[in-house]
Amino acid sequence: MTKTLFITGASTGIGAATARAAVAAGWNVGLMARSADKLDTLTKELGDNAMALSGDATDLAAQEDAVRRTVERFGTLDAAFANAGTGLDKPGTEGGDPDEWRKLVDLNVMGVLYTARATLPELRKTRGHLLLTGSAAGRNHIKGSIYSASKWFVHGYAGNMSEEMREWGGRCTLISPGMVDTPFFDEAKPDKLKPEDIAGAVMFAISQDPRAEVREVHVMPTG
Ligand SMILES: NC(=O)c1ccc[n+]([C@@H]2O[C@H](COP(=O)([O-])OP(=O)(O)OC[C@H]3O[C@@H](n4cnc5c(N)ncnc54)[C@H](OP(=O)(O)O)[C@@H]3O)[C@@H](O)[C@H]2O)c1
Repeated sequence: MTKTLFITGASTGIGAATARAAVAAGWNVGLMARSADKLDTLTKELGDNAMALSGDATDLAAQEDAVRRTVERFGTLDAAFANAGTGLDKPGTEGGDPDEWRKLVDLNVMGVLYTARATLPELRKTRGHLLLTGSAAGRNHIKGSIYSASKWFVHGYAGNMSEEMREWGGRCTLISPGMVDTPFFDEAKPDKLKPEDIAGAVMFAISQDPRAEVREVHVMPTG
């Protein structure tokens, strides 16, 4: 039976590249992001194996609804990729904007928890796979970076979920990219990783035999 992957942050960058790679590998995909227009264009490109689910990942009910619609359409949920994330315009603790921190925590921390909360009941049924997008910034200390600290949460949570999910045959993978050339940055980063490189890491993790849990894929650019 065709397997199904739910992706947040699917409209651009790493999430969109993963959607393309997954459909090319024979998966169904449920694609969540706020930009309905971009999701519609992407699902038209990908065809019947893709479903657009416009919504805000900081809203638990919206994620639960997106997951419910994915399962209604495709029958099961085999993997979920909590990938939506954001950076900060104003860096630093003294110079930064607490309202902007709140939005970052709502997405980079709460949004990831909401994806897990919304998908785990379905993943239990399939002994499925949860994947989380961390960052090289979640493995290293970066002077004063609040974004980096939010990714340290993701790294800690991924390992903890591996320990929990293995009890019922589930798996959790942390995807940890260095700099990737995506709309995350205002300027192009032509000598860094491409989103397809990270999509390849996701596909590697979800294609393993069920006995093998790839706990982390850390990909750095050579340039
Ligand atoms: N690029 C890098 O160098 C790099 C390195 C390490 C880790 N990462 C992480 O990789 C992940 C994906 O980033 P990217 O580089 O692919 O950047 P991106 O192209 O900007 O992708 C971010 C995605 O998140 C979605 N998103 C933002 N806010 C959302 C919300 N409230 N609800 C639902 N979706 C939301 C965006 O779509 P909408 O605007 O349509 O909602 C978009 O699809 C992030 O977690 C980022 O922190 C990136």
